[in-house]
Amino acid sequence: MKENKSFWDRYASDFDAIYGTRNSWFNSIINKLFRGAMKIRFDKTMKIIPPENVSVIDIGCGPGHYCFSLATTGEREILGIDFSEPMIGLAKEHAKELGLENSLRFEVVDVFGYEPGRKFDYSIMMGFVEYFEHPELVIERAINITNRKVMISFPADGGVLAFQRKLRYRNRCYLRLYHRKDIEDLMAQLEIMSYSIERIDRDYFVTINLN
Ligand SMILES: C[S@@+](CC[C@H](N)C(=O)[O-])C[C@H]1O[C@@H](n2cnc3c(N)ncnc32)[C@H](O)[C@@H]1O
Repeated sequence: MKENKSFWDRYASDFDAIYGTRNSWFNSIINKLFRGAMKIRFDKTMKIIPPENVSVIDIGCGPGHYCFSLATTGEREILGIDFSEPMIGLAKEHAKELGLENSLRFEVVDVFGYEPGRKFDYSIMMGFVEYFEHPELVIERAINITNRKVMISFPADGGVLAFQRKLRYRNRCYLRLYHRKDIEDLMAQLEIMSYSIERIDRDYFVTINLN
């Protein structure tokens, strides 16, 4: 887990750059690298979460791009958490640039040590669970702090791109790709009855319904 953290600390700026250049990152979200699975899962998440009177936690928020979109498209209570200081540093910087520093909160915290003492209406875990050897533990944590829905992306296994990604991450940090059956088994293991799995490009988008 420690090795994973130092990987994310080092990777923060490059990961942020995927969302666009430092100067015009917000405008270039749609035009640039935000395509395919990444764009679809982003749009899906925004559509599912109502615009008002809801609280949202973005677990493993990285540089905060989901949070910013949630903050600019509605009146939601938003908290982004991430265990990487550089990631949260970038998120706070962007929030300031966008004049959103009073509209959302970011905290440096490890999902395993996080005890909010309350529940959020929606939880987001995008580009997150694949980095855990025990995804069931992370999903369980999200369920425990959520009232309505937990949304999770799982990268799909199979094909050249998946193979390439596995190779790229081999010496970086733990990475697991998924088949639909793996996700169904995970849901069964967690005794989750109400959920949907949608294949979107190179991802599976999973919504767990809690009420
Ligand atoms: C691929 S990034 C995804 C960022 C964001 N969700 C997105 O899709 O733009 C994964 C993030 O998970 C964070 N992370 C990994 N393990 C974590 C943990 N145990 N607790 C909190 N954050 C963690 C990393 O620091 C990194 O910022």
